Amino acid sequence: MSPVAGLSNPGNLALSKKEDFKAFADAPRRQQPEALTRKQLKELGTQARAEYDRSRREWHANLGPIKTPQLVELHEDLWDITDSNLQDGDKAKGAVAIDAFPGLGKTTSVLAFLREFHRREIAEKGEFTEHGHERWPVCRVGLTGNTGMKDLNRAMLEFFEHPGRSRGTTVQLGRRALDCMLSCEVRVLALDDLHFLKWGKTSGIEVSNHLKWIANEFPVTLLMVGVGLADKGLFSEGSAAGDTTLAQTGRRTTRLDVRPFTITNEMGRRERKQMLLALEQRIVLADKYPGMLANDLSDYLFSRSTGHIGSLMTLINRGCQRAVRSGSECLDKELLDRVKNDEASENARRELEAALEARRLTSRPRSRQSA
Ligand SMILES: Nc1ncnc2c1ncn2[C@@H]1O[C@H](COP(=O)(O)OP(=O)(O)OP(=O)(O)O)[C@@H](O)[C@H]1O
Ligand SMILES: [Mg+2]
Repeated sequence: MSPVAGLSNPGNLALSKKEDFKAFADAPRRQQPEALTRKQLKELGTQARAEYDRSRREWHANLGPIKTPQLVELHEDLWDITDSNLQDGDKAKGAVAIDAFPGLGKTTSVLAFLREFHRREIAEKGEFTEHGHERWPVCRVGLTGNTGMKDLNRAMLEFFEHPGRSRGTTVQLGRRALDCMLSCEVRVLALDDLHFLKWGKTSGIEVSNHLKWIANEFPVTLLMVGVGLADKGLFSEGSAAGDTTLAQTGRRTTRLDVRPFTITNEMGRRERKQMLLALEQRIVLADKYPGMLANDLSDYLFSRSTGHIGSLMTLINRGCQRAVRSGSECLDKELLDRVKNDEASENARRELEAALEARRLTSRPRSRQSA
């Protein structure tokens, strides 16, 4: 499978292996299909039409990442921290924890950053280290349900497809992972969905010790991503148990947030409009018009996604698929009403719709409200 074909189905590309990650990082950006008018659509032969629609299906299923203010801010912070961590090996590096609700784009933004980081490091330093090992600037591990310390160490070895990944104690696996990262000159170690780590009864002291060991011993910027990490005590200064390890982790870890879109102030409404305009540009439907999302559907889309980019993207993706299939070639309320969204958004919908209809709330910035 070519890397690009793999990317058209990210579900198959776990990105938890170095070769997959490289394919992801090296893949050229997708080409947006040309926008055709209704007349041009009619003129396409059956075969050409089927191909055009298939390319639109794939395109709409992968509309991203959009440079939202959240993504841009997060990237700025990540560059600051990783670059300031490029000091000599013996200094303890600062760690980062991205702690935010589900569906706000943590994984997407972090992967986009890791991609850039990988490309920059390889471009500047070459594919091989001075000692002739392959250079892997990034090691990324996505955790799954109830991972223990040993599984975490193993997952790091899995990334490198290390032959010794299947046997040994937690400590041995950890040492091998460290050796691997030293020889491949890993600079960023990203642990996604860290909330899946087994935190145990003792308020995560074991976890904390383990992360501290990684942060101390591995010459990497540790980038932790998850939901509710603060609640799990990752940053607790002098925890209930009077444990100072947690405090130490807290001191060295910079916590970054990813905000949802809000419409309670003018700034938020403007930001959201910019994002909708950017999204609109990427839609390939014959009857699309400027302002389709950003003006006409702004309130509607907010009530259906409540500021969560994940829910918004799902809705737009499904809506575009339906607009292509049904031949309506345009997004409007009627079509989108028939598209299902995730449970959480559907639940929040009714209340918001009522408020938007009663004009107690609006999602549009001021200039548009009067227009
Ligand atoms: N900047 C963006 N541009 C386009 N789409 C985005 C962007 N950010 C997120 N998305 C879309 O939103 C969905 C959810 O994003 P993502 O998986 O990154 O969220 P998350 O915060 O990691 O969620 P979870 O906590 O469930 O892992 C994805 O399908 C992704 O395609
Ligand atoms: Mg995620």
